[in-house]
Amino acid sequence: MISFSIIVAVDSKLGIGKNGVLPWHLPADLKHFKEITSSESSDKRRNVVVMGRKTWESIPEKFRPLANRLNVVISRQTHLILPAGVVQATSLEGALNFLCDTQRVPVGEVFVIGGAQIFAEAVNHPACEKIYVTRIEREFVCDTFFPDVLQQFTQVGQSEVLSDQGVAISFLKYQKKAS
Ligand SMILES: NC(=O)c1ccc[n+]([C@@H]2O[C@H](COP(=O)([O-])OP(=O)(O)OC[C@H]3O[C@@H](n4cnc5c(N)ncnc54)[C@H](OP(=O)(O)O)[C@@H]3O)[C@@H](O)[C@H]2O)c1
Repeated sequence: MISFSIIVAVDSKLGIGKNGVLPWHLPADLKHFKEITSSESSDKRRNVVVMGRKTWESIPEKFRPLANRLNVVISRQTHLILPAGVVQATSLEGALNFLCDTQRVPVGEVFVIGGAQIFAEAVNHPACEKIYVTRIEREFVCDTFFPDVLQQFTQVGQSEVLSDQGVAISFLKYQKKAS
C-alpha cells in the first residue's frame, strides 16, 4: 500500500470551507501548499494530489489541473468529464490502488488535499502518514470541517506565526503515532 500525506488549512474551529469554496484568500498559504505538494516532483516522478470532485470543481478553471502534479479526482459519477491527464478514481482506495501500479504511473509523494468528505476517510486510513496543517487564528463561520483527530497524531513541526493579509497563520506538521 502506498502511503500518503494530508494537507489542509483550518480556521480556529477546524473549518475548511464555506459554500463550496475556501472562505479566505491567503497567498502565503497558497504558496506553502504549492511548495509542499510540488517539492521533488519531476517529469519522471510526479507528485500526486488526490481530491474529491467538489474540491476539484472549487479550483478556478485557469488553475486546474494543479500544475506539475498528477491530479486524481474521486467521484462516483460515470460521466464526469475531466481534462486529459487527470485521473478519475471511484474511491480513495481505488486512487491508492491505481497509484500503487508504479509502472503505469511513476509517482512521487501522494497528497490528499480535501475536501471534508475525503478527509473524513483519509484521516483514519492506515496509509495516512503525515498531516500538514495551516492553522488560521480566526473563525470564518465555515460549513465544512476537518475531523477533530489531530490529538491522535504527533506534532513534529511548527513554524513561527506569520501575518497573511492581516490574518495570523502558522504551519504545523503531524506524524502518525508510532504503534
Ligand atoms: N481548507 C482546506 O484545506 C480545503 C481543502 C480542500 C477543500 N476545501 C473545501 O472543502 C469543501 C469541499 O468539501 P466537500 O466535503 O463538500 O467535498 P469533497 O470531499 O471535495 O468532494 C465530495 C465528492 O467526492 C466524491 N466522493 C466523496 N467520497 C467518496 C467515496 N467514498 N467514493 C466515491 N466518491 C466519493 C463525491 O463525488 P460525486 O458526487 O461526483 O460522486 C462527493 O460528492 C469546499 O468548500 C472546499 O473549498 C478546503
